[in-house]
Amino acid sequence: MRLAPFSLVFVLVVAAALVQPAARTPAQAAPSGRGGMVVAANPMAVEAGLKVLRAGGSAVDAAVAVQATLGLVEPQSSGLAGGAFMTYYDARTKEVTTYDGRETAPASATSTYFYVNGAPLGRGAVRTGKSTGTPGAVTMLALAHAQHGKLAWKDLFGEAIHLAEDGFPVPARMADAAGRAGPEIQAYVGGRKAGDILKNPAYAATVRALAANPRAINEGPIAAAIAAKVGEAPNPGTISVADLAGYRPNTTPALCRPYRVYIVCAPPPPSGGIGVLMALGIYENLPIDKYKPTDPEAWYLFAEGQRVMYADRDQYIGDPSFVHIPTGLLDPNYLKSRAALVGAQSKAYAAGSPPDAVAYGADDTHEVAGTSHFVIVDKDGNALSMTTTVESAFGSNRMAAGMVLNNQLTDFSQTPTDAAGKPVANAVAGGKRPRSSMSPTIVLDRNRNFVMAIGSPGGNSIPAYTLKVIVGVLDWHLTLQDAINLPNLIAQGPGTTAEVDKFAPGVAAGLAAKGITPRGAAAEGSGLHGILVVNNRLVGAADPRREGVAKAP
Ligand code: DON
Repeated sequence: MRLAPFSLVFVLVVAAALVQPAARTPAQAAPSGRGGMVVAANPMAVEAGLKVLRAGGSAVDAAVAVQATLGLVEPQSSGLAGGAFMTYYDARTKEVTTYDGRETAPASATSTYFYVNGAPLGRGAVRTGKSTGTPGAVTMLALAHAQHGKLAWKDLFGEAIHLAEDGFPVPARMADAAGRAGPEIQAYVGGRKAGDILKNPAYAATVRALAANPRAINEGPIAAAIAAKVGEAPNPGTISVADLAGYRPNTTPALCRPYRVYIVCAPPPPSGGIGVLMALGIYENLPIDKYKPTDPEAWYLFAEGQRVMYADRDQYIGDPSFVHIPTGLLDPNYLKSRAALVGAQSKAYAAGSPPDAVAYGADDTHEVAGTSHFVIVDKDGNALSMTTTVESAFGSNRMAAGMVLNNQLTDFSQTPTDAAGKPVANAVAGGKRPRSSMSPTIVLDRNRNFVMAIGSPGGNSIPAYTLKVIVGVLDWHLTLQDAINLPNLIAQGPGTTAEVDKFAPGVAAGLAAKGITPRGAAAEGSGLHGILVVNNRLVGAADPRREGVAKAP
């Protein structure tokens, strides 16, 4: 019953949303029911999803095909041995459900799992066996498919098998990332450049096994191969075949909050969705909607609201099965008090004391690049928003059964207590899920019709990227593509990073006058992929910073 407080919030906020004034209701309604759409980070993966939709498949059916293909053609970002969160809108019931396929720490892990010779490995943990968590993306999709699939599971893998057996042209981003990868990945890609053909027969065999048995990665020879690879020196991890066999995805009602005349839904912790909802609750108390994105004030409020949110997010969020998440983080009065901290000049904000808080220690979690976001709507209007990851580029840089093994456990704080000796919410524990920033979001109108699906990779910056599009579309009334194209700005702790060159004239100077001098272009780029309903039609948009496309069947 750990989610009961959020369920209560959900009921309250939906009730609140229904009494919002109608003045700003968009000229949008439910999708037309024609066609559907797929937006993902690679055109081959989009095509795999479209083939499934053309064959009469559901959004979830298409998601299985997209993920199986991404794991082959964008293995630096996500894969069958990774983890994911999915937010799902059911057009018939108008309910929003979330699926949690987040990796777990091995049952044997303790809070000092990353300590070697008395000190945490730090970034050195990424390319080791210790960083790999028990994968959850596939079992999560199998659960979603059992509930929302239309086509047979075995029929969803044709495109991935074909590309793995017959070869695919190496995408430019994959070739580029492979050039910086560890020896095992370099050997696999074999020095191929963008456009050169690569085959992966081991991946094809794994996908064939998976098509025949959705638990093929969790049991039998593939599970044994994963456990053996994780257990290799140096710095072996301790994932066992029992961990793989015991993995269970979670499914819960989405965490939903009203925003203006809309309802915004995302997965509960350990996903980053709560950060998006907290920031929106803060923006609702700031006049961010009164400015245009050409005005420095719009970006000032955007930055400071985010900064206040991140201070709490970093302090309080971890796996709710292990740590107490204060329900007060989404309390409208608490968020109003947090918004009131935003003054005329930028400053650093300490974590607040939301009602129901437990005093956790300061966090030491590090996050790095390697994730993908896709969105799908089917012809019946069912919609999904899924963020899927192996964490860093090519995960742990180890492979088993043709798959890249994730390094998701480096999303834990490697030190279990802070300098004052207080326990950290996101410390490692056996079976625990590391805190995530991934925020696959779905926006509804007040009649619970689907309005938008959006999300992004980008580690810690994911809530900032996602918020930019939500505010851009709902408050600044931009098209989805224009909102995605807006400069990224991330305000976390005392510092700010932004794509400074993309700001409208005068914005950077205006921000500087208020104490914000962003450092240029954050190392992690966004990969915002979304679908918006405009005049009863689906409009998709892909982030020009990556290789993705939006296409209808
Ligand atoms: O779950 C998380 O928050 C991270 N593992 C995501 C990493 C990521 O997005 C890197 N992307 N470029």
